[in-house]
Amino acid sequence: MRVLHVAAEIFPLVKTGGLADVVGALPQALVAAGADVRLLLPGLPAIVAGVKPEKTVCVIGAVFGAGQVTLRLGKMAGSGVQVYVIDAPYLYQRPGNPYQGADGSEWSDNVQRFALLGWVAAHLAAGEFDPDWTPEVLHAHDWHAAMGCAYVACRPVTSSATVFTVHNLAYQGVFPVDDFHLLHLPSRVMVPGGLEYHGQFSFMKAGLKYAHRVTTVSPSYAREIATDEFGCGLDGVIRARGAQVCGILNGIDGVVWNPAADSLIDAQYSSALLGGKAQCKQALQQEMCLKVDATAPVFAVVSRLTSQKGLDLLLSALPALMEDSRSSGAQLVIQGSGDLALESAFAAAAKAHPERVAVRLGYDEPQAHRVIAGADAIVIPSRFEPCGLTQLYALRYGTVPVVRGVGGLADTVVDASPDAVRTDTATGFIFGPATATALGQALIRTVESYRDPAAWRCLMVRGMAQDFSWSSSAGSYLSLYEDAIRNR
Ligand code: ADP
Ligand code: GLC
Repeated sequence: MRVLHVAAEIFPLVKTGGLADVVGALPQALVAAGADVRLLLPGLPAIVAGVKPEKTVCVIGAVFGAGQVTLRLGKMAGSGVQVYVIDAPYLYQRPGNPYQGADGSEWSDNVQRFALLGWVAAHLAAGEFDPDWTPEVLHAHDWHAAMGCAYVACRPVTSSATVFTVHNLAYQGVFPVDDFHLLHLPSRVMVPGGLEYHGQFSFMKAGLKYAHRVTTVSPSYAREIATDEFGCGLDGVIRARGAQVCGILNGIDGVVWNPAADSLIDAQYSSALLGGKAQCKQALQQEMCLKVDATAPVFAVVSRLTSQKGLDLLLSALPALMEDSRSSGAQLVIQGSGDLALESAFAAAAKAHPERVAVRLGYDEPQAHRVIAGADAIVIPSRFEPCGLTQLYALRYGTVPVVRGVGGLADTVVDASPDAVRTDTATGFIFGPATATALGQALIRTVESYRDPAAWRCLMVRGMAQDFSWSSSAGSYLSLYEDAIRNR
């Protein structure tokens, strides 16, 4: 099975969130399951530097506003997975992240930058750019790659089957109708039954409409996005695809995230030998200038600071957590970046509660490992969460998740209800309504459980034993690819 994965980011080269982790790990899992997988990525500076694409596959010439576009082939250094890189310096060789400049505003030519990604994917799928390798399946991730599905659908002859994975329906790639001509697509697709979206056009909608199969990253989110509440205006389009939309749960890279062999943390540990975790906690308290206290429950957040993540609820619940006698001594570490109002509110909370609340603003991969290893519990109060990876990393690191029961969080954490405790299935704490009160109650339940060392140890060890490796989801993708090929 030859599969081309198309995406805008990949761990460890370019990462703004969990998408990069998935694009880094899933191809390797598919290779392990017997598939022949390649990647197609835009030639962003870190991707060119990391992949070192030396072999020229095709000189494409001047397209999408770029004077010279060349398709080259290289490899991911760690996994050896082959990567096609679109070398288009005019569009991709810039500082900042894949979507925005350093000032936080979207690149003004994102239409061309990501249309090119999909357009090259479709030419590879048709066997036109690399006669030596033609994928049977084009697998596009999120809106950045979604146009690949439309370009394939607009070809006179069917080529590869297309699969589109929604990692986050809230980011859609919507552009003004005046830019439609930049796509070089026939006007028949610029209709409500195509990629037209309230007088504009939408890359996300192109993926949802034209892919042979649509997936998202957890079964619960697959159900949620078919509703008005979570559908971000596209729930009707999703409902119309019926059973052609399904949820396949993300896995985690067990080599990158393994407390027994993680060189980024202060001491390695496993569920049989938990001593190293206490060392990691002490080191974290020291590093963050918190009171060094082995008995204080340490809550952590490692997150983009956006309204999706519900961290305003945590800010509202924080005074009670700091003052409630039941949670006396509880500490909080925040590592994140994003919304400036949230950044400054957390910085103010740290100032108001020295030695109990610590904030690190910014993006720092090694620090994420140290925080997740050193904390007792991770807090993820998301308003919506397609899958969520940090609760999976936390479970593996014996760090108990406290989550809102939505999307992938609901699919991966088992609440410590009396029933679950009795049947030895609990792995964390879940709350329902998106309110500070409901979150606050879950935090208190967590502290109470923490004060019972035997019960807490059971939670930690059970969490560490959960299997969130990619192997079973890779099998699900392979079956889905076969289904997409049969039904293209
Ligand atoms: P999302 O993709 O919505 O941001 P996920 O939980 O799927 O959420 O993935 C987030 C990824 O980004 C995880 O790998 C997490 O460790 C990482 N991450 C988030 N914020 C930071 C940060 N400030 N520093 C380092 N890593 C971060
Ligand atoms: C998105 C989602 C997150 C998911 C990640 C990887 O960024 O917000 O829930 O885990 O993609 O699929």
